Amino acid sequence: MDLAVEMREITKVFKKVAANDKVNFNLKKGSIHGLLGENGAGKTTLMNCLYGLYQPESGKIFINGKNVRIDSPQKAMSLGVGMVHQHFMLVRPMTVVENIMLGLSSKRGPFLDTDRVERELLALSKRFNLNLEPKAKIWQLSVGEQQRVEILSALYRGAEILILDEPTAVLTPNEAQELFGILRMMRNDGKSVILISHKLEEILAIVDEVTVLRDGRLVGQAQVTAETTKRDLTSMMVGRDVLFNFKHETLKTGATKLMVNHLGARNDKGLPALKEVSFSISAGEILGFAGVDGNGQKELCEVLTGLRPTTSGEICLNGKELNRSSPKTFINEGIAHIPEDRHKTGLAMNMGIARNLILKNFSQSGFSSRGLLNFRAIKKNAERLMEEYAIKANGVHTKVKDLSGGNQQKVILARELSSKPEIIIANQPTRGLDIGATEYVRQKLLEESAKGAGVLLISADLEEILQLSDRIAVLYDGQIMGILGRNASVEEIGLLMAGVRTEEVEVC
Ligand SMILES: Nc1ncnc2c1ncn2[C@@H]1O[C@H](COP(=O)(O)OP(=O)(O)OP(=O)(O)O)[C@@H](O)[C@H]1O
Ligand SMILES: [Mg+2]
Repeated sequence: MDLAVEMREITKVFKKVAANDKVNFNLKKGSIHGLLGENGAGKTTLMNCLYGLYQPESGKIFINGKNVRIDSPQKAMSLGVGMVHQHFMLVRPMTVVENIMLGLSSKRGPFLDTDRVERELLALSKRFNLNLEPKAKIWQLSVGEQQRVEILSALYRGAEILILDEPTAVLTPNEAQELFGILRMMRNDGKSVILISHKLEEILAIVDEVTVLRDGRLVGQAQVTAETTKRDLTSMMVGRDVLFNFKHETLKTGATKLMVNHLGARNDKGLPALKEVSFSISAGEILGFAGVDGNGQKELCEVLTGLRPTTSGEICLNGKELNRSSPKTFINEGIAHIPEDRHKTGLAMNMGIARNLILKNFSQSGFSSRGLLNFRAIKKNAERLMEEYAIKANGVHTKVKDLSGGNQQKVILARELSSKPEIIIANQPTRGLDIGATEYVRQKLLEESAKGAGVLLISADLEEILQLSDRIAVLYDGQIMGILGRNASVEEIGLLMAGVRTEEVEVC
């Protein structure tokens, strides 16, 4: 079979560390290829080399059998290579067609005919089932739709090879299925797709072949057949077995820690985002929140960490009212926060790991005295946490922006979970983590709750919610539709997530 891409002995070095060390990668024409590996294994780096964002120190790239030099994304696109990054590069106040036309003008001359582009986009959108309206403004679109705009944009620029870096991390299960439908259509059309994902079920369901990287090196390439199992992939990736199903013991929960009554809040557009939300979390309890993204989850987390004002209701921690308190008070009272968007709220990207790890408590616990920072203590703290959380980096002072996506998430987790929290607000805590790290974080949340912390867990991964939670609340349109016991079925939860409240649903 013809190869769409052949990468031969690619080496890419950052500050003396080889993120890719003589990596070979072969992509067959008309296939979907999974690129796997733990956080920091070198997946994004390899694809950035193919897309012209990085120049490898050595190695060769062949596209359709021809040796090429890809020194910019423009060059990549002219060779038919497109890439959809995890952080979309769209201009929110502009429309779909305007966004797609943005980079085109130089190629197609100054007189672009908007009507024509619009017609062509509509036809392309229909052909690949992208279901997009070219005149819609980006800010009006869901995350899944925005991702489809990126795909449409790549297709419009003539992509025959499409790279998707963890595309499903931000999607709901339904959106992920829709995306796979689109990828299959692209394959039928003779196009080739490279898919980076940590979700092994997805890989098994959709890809034809996998390439596995470990520590910047190629472990191997393999066909994915009906016989391939998650265990096969894991042992290639990690070199050991990983626990997939652990259910936490029924714990005796203690006194009520967090009490939320009739809470109301507005979203960024000034519309009601939380309506009369009431629940409690006891010591030792994990309360899961299921729901389609965008039904008030983000606002709930922000309100419970002092980042967003309430319009009504009250929040009490250990009997103390916290409404209208500053974020600092929430931190000092022991509310830890694992935010959804680590770039915006979780990390200081230009600062080193060690400093990020003490961002919240630099004035306490021996990290400073009389206004001076104790560098030795800060370094020791970082070394300990980096080892415990397997944070892969050159050293404690590596800037967070130079870490791989999963390792950035680990820095937040290490900081928040090591602060002996009373309550942990965990929003998508395992998003972007490899399977080993996911297992570790889930166990850590169970451990913290066993030590008496209360946990509020928001996750788009229903399996994660079912595995960890003592009770499961379902958010829909800013309201709690019901709070179910841990033995609730996926169907029951699904109905509530869709806003259907049935008589049979038993509310705990
Ligand atoms: N711009 C950069 N500067 C310095 N080091 C970098 C840079 N980009 C990546 N690295 C390092 O290269 C290694 C590979 O990173 P890469 O982002 O390719 O990993 P990944 O496999 O995509 O991981 P993840 O699953 O966490 O996204 C990491 O150790 C990372 O810290
Ligand atoms: Mg990556």
